[in-house]
Amino acid sequence: MDAHDLGRSVKWVTSFRTVGAARVLRSVRAAWWRRRADAVGLAGPGPERARVPGAARGAEPAPGGGVVHFARSSLRVRVAAGGAVFCGWDGAAPEPSYALAGPVPEADERAVLEPDRDGGWRVVSERVLVTVSRHGAVEVRTPGGVVLRRDHPPRWWDRADAAGPAGRAAGGAGPRWAQRSEVPADARFFGLGGRSAGPRLRDGTYLLWNEDPGGSFGPGDDPLYITMPVQLVVADAGTHLVFHDNSWEGRVTLWEGEEGGGSGHDRPGRCEVRAAGGPLRTWVITGTPARVLGGWSALTGRAAVPPAWALGPQHARWGFGSADEVRRVVAGYRERGLPLSAVHLDIDHYRGHRVFTVDRERFPDLPGLAAELRERGVRLVSIVDPGVKAEPGWEVFDGGLAADAFVRDARGRVVRGEVWAGTSVFPDFTDPRAREWWGGLYAERLAQGFSGFWHDMNEPAAFAAFGEHTLPRSARHALDGAGGDHRAAHNVYALCMARAGYEALRALRPDERPFLFSRSGWAGMQRYGGTWSGDVVTGWPGLRASLALVLGLGLCGVPYSGPDVGGFTGSPSPELYLRWFQMGAFLPLFRTHSAISAGRREPWEFGAEVLAHAAAALRERVRLLPYFVTLAHLARLTGAPYARPVWWRSPEDRALRDCEDQFLLGDALLVAPVLEPGASRRAVRLPRGRWYDVATERAYEGPGQVLLDAPLSRIPVLARAGCVIPVASSSGGGGVELEVWAPAPGVGVGRSEGGVVVVEPAGVVERFVTGWREGAVVVGREGGGEVGYRVRVRGV
Ligand code: GLC
Repeated sequence: MDAHDLGRSVKWVTSFRTVGAARVLRSVRAAWWRRRADAVGLAGPGPERARVPGAARGAEPAPGGGVVHFARSSLRVRVAAGGAVFCGWDGAAPEPSYALAGPVPEADERAVLEPDRDGGWRVVSERVLVTVSRHGAVEVRTPGGVVLRRDHPPRWWDRADAAGPAGRAAGGAGPRWAQRSEVPADARFFGLGGRSAGPRLRDGTYLLWNEDPGGSFGPGDDPLYITMPVQLVVADAGTHLVFHDNSWEGRVTLWEGEEGGGSGHDRPGRCEVRAAGGPLRTWVITGTPARVLGGWSALTGRAAVPPAWALGPQHARWGFGSADEVRRVVAGYRERGLPLSAVHLDIDHYRGHRVFTVDRERFPDLPGLAAELRERGVRLVSIVDPGVKAEPGWEVFDGGLAADAFVRDARGRVVRGEVWAGTSVFPDFTDPRAREWWGGLYAERLAQGFSGFWHDMNEPAAFAAFGEHTLPRSARHALDGAGGDHRAAHNVYALCMARAGYEALRALRPDERPFLFSRSGWAGMQRYGGTWSGDVVTGWPGLRASLALVLGLGLCGVPYSGPDVGGFTGSPSPELYLRWFQMGAFLPLFRTHSAISAGRREPWEFGAEVLAHAAAALRERVRLLPYFVTLAHLARLTGAPYARPVWWRSPEDRALRDCEDQFLLGDALLVAPVLEPGASRRAVRLPRGRWYDVATERAYEGPGQVLLDAPLSRIPVLARAGCVIPVASSSGGGGVELEVWAPAPGVGVGRSEGGVVVVEPAGVVERFVTGWREGAVVVGREGGGEVGYRVRVRGV
C-alpha cells in the first residue's frame, strides 16, 4: 500500500461511511477478499524490457497521413477533415474507443505524408502541420509553423513473456508506457477531468483513476471521481487539447515552463503521461478555445440538453427521512415565495438502501407524492447506485444473476463488495446485455414518479478498511466484446452506467429529454448527461474547489455540473452558505445538498438576512432561465461550456489565464463570486471591451482590473456591452424578453456583440445584432426581420 492508499484508508475508516462495528468488520473482510482476488487473478509484473521506437525505416501513405515504420514500432498519423490529429503507436487505431461518439471522423483527403528534412516526415493540412522525426518525435504546429506541442519518442516496457506488437495491438493488456511532451514556456494546463486544485493545473502529478475520496474532499485532494486523460493547453502560440485515449490507470505529471525574459533561455512547459497498459494513441485538436471544444464535442459527442426544469433551483439532502419531511421542505419554499424546480431523494428513501426499491413506511405513496409535487411545479429526482445487495430472493438481485449481469472475478465467481446496503454485487456496465437488463429497471423509477436520475458511487466505490476502495483489479469485464479486467474497465465504468441509464430512458420515455447526472465518468460522458462536484468539504476552500471542478470539467467537454451548495459536510456559517448559494445560482446545476450528519441547507435556516439575499439569488436564477436554456442548447451545438474561464475569448491575455476565481457565463456575463470571508468588495479582472456592473449599470473598460462592491446582498456580475440576454418576461406568464446591454458609444448596428437566443420548445437558434443608430440603441435580427420579443435596454 502506498502513501496515497494509506491516507485514503485512514480517511475512509474515520469517515461516517464505515462507522458501526458491523460495517467496520465487513470492510475489513471486503478488503481481504479484494486483496486475495488480486493475488490469484493478477499476474505479477515479471521481467520487463524497455523499448523506444528506434530509427525510422520507411513510411507508407494512408488517407489523412500515413504510417511511419520504426525499427521497433510504428506510428499511424491521420489528420481528420476538421483538423483533429490522430497518432497511434504500435498499430493502435482510433477504434474501439469508449470516448468516441460515432464513426471516426473522415480523413482530410488533402493531408498527405511527405518526406521532411533530416529524414523525417510531415503532414501538411489547412489547420495544422504535423512533423515526425526519424526517431519518432511528433510535433504539432500551427499552419504557420509555430510549435504547439512536441511529443518525444515514447517508451514502452514490454513484458518478457508477452507477444510482440501484433499481439499487443490485438487487445492484450499491452506494455506500460510513458510519453513526455513539451509545450511553450508560457503555456498553462487545464482539464484532466474534475480536479479540486484547478482550474489551472500547477506542477504536480495527477492520477488517472476515478476515486471516491471518502468522507469529503478539499482543494488538492486528488484524484477525485472523474479523471480524464484530457488536457487543454493554452499558450500565446495557440490553444490545443490533447487526449490520450486510454482508459487504463495512469498518471500525468505537469511542469509549467518559464520564460527567460528575452534571454533566449525559455524553459518549456513539460508533461509526462504514463499508463499501466492499454494503447498509446492521442488526439490533438488545435485552434481557439471555442474551436477546440467544438472539435472535441464533435469527436466525443454532443452534450445532452437537460430538460428546462433541471436548469432551475433544486434541493437535495441525504436524510429527508420521510414523505412528510419532503412536503415540509417544499412547503417552506412555497410559503416564502422561493422558486424550486426539483427535490432529490437520496438512498434513505430506499428500503434498506436497496437500489430500485422504496421504503414504504416512510414513503407510503411515492407516485402520489410525486404527482402532488408536480402540481406545484416540483419534480422528483432519484439517486441510483450501482451496487445491488446480494440477497437471494430479491428480484433485482435474482434478475441480475439470471441475466448474468454482475462482474465476476478471474475464477468466475461474482465479485462482492461492501456498500450502503451491505454486501453487494456490481453490474458489468461494459457488457451490452448488462446495460440492457439494468436499463429496464428504470421503468420502476418512472412508475414511482421520478423525473430525473442521479448516479452515485459509480467509480465504482466499495468500502474497504485498507487498500483500494473499488472492485478488485483482477475482476473480469466484457469491455464490449474486447474482454479484459478492471484495470481497463474501472475508469469507464460510470460512463457505461450513464449510457445504460440514458439509452433506457430514451426508450422508456421517447418524448422527454432524460435528466441524468453522474458522480463518476470519463471522456464522452456529456453524451448522456452531467455531473456534480461530489462530497465537497464545507468551508471556504471547498467553495473554491467546487468552482475549479466545474470549470475544469467544462474544458473536458462536460458542460453541466455544479456543487453541493453549502458544502456536503457539517454546517456552513451563514456567510459561507450565502456566498456558495450566490455562486451556485450562476452554475448549470444549482442544487443544495448535504450529508445525513450535516446541518440544514434550506435558505431560511440561516437567518432573515441570508434568506432575503438567497431569495434574490433564486429570483435572478429564474429570471435567467431562458439564458440557461440557450446555453444548454449552445453547449450541444458548439461544445462550449455554460461556465467558461475568463480567458475563453482572449486566451492571449496572460493575466486572464491565471485568473481562477471568476468565470464567464456564456458570452454575455462575467461572474465574480466571493470566495473568502468578510469581503465586501473584490477585485475583478476584465477581458477587453466594455463591461457593466449589472447592479449599478456602471460601465468599466477592459482589459484590466477593477475593484467592485460585493456586499452580502450580491456578488459582482458584469454584462458585456452590446450583448443580448434572453430573460424571463418581467410581466410573468413564462414569456421571454431580451435584455440588451448598450454597446460601447458609437458602435454601429451589427458591429457589436449581439447574441443568440434558443427558446423551447422550438429549439431554433435566433441571432440578434445590436448597435447605436441616431443616438439610440437598436436591436435587430441578424439577416433582418421583426425582433419578435420585448426588448429592454440597459446601461444607457
Ligand atoms: C455519496 C454521494 C452523496 C450522497 C451519499 C449518500 O457520498 O456523493 O451525494 O448523499 O453518497 O447516498
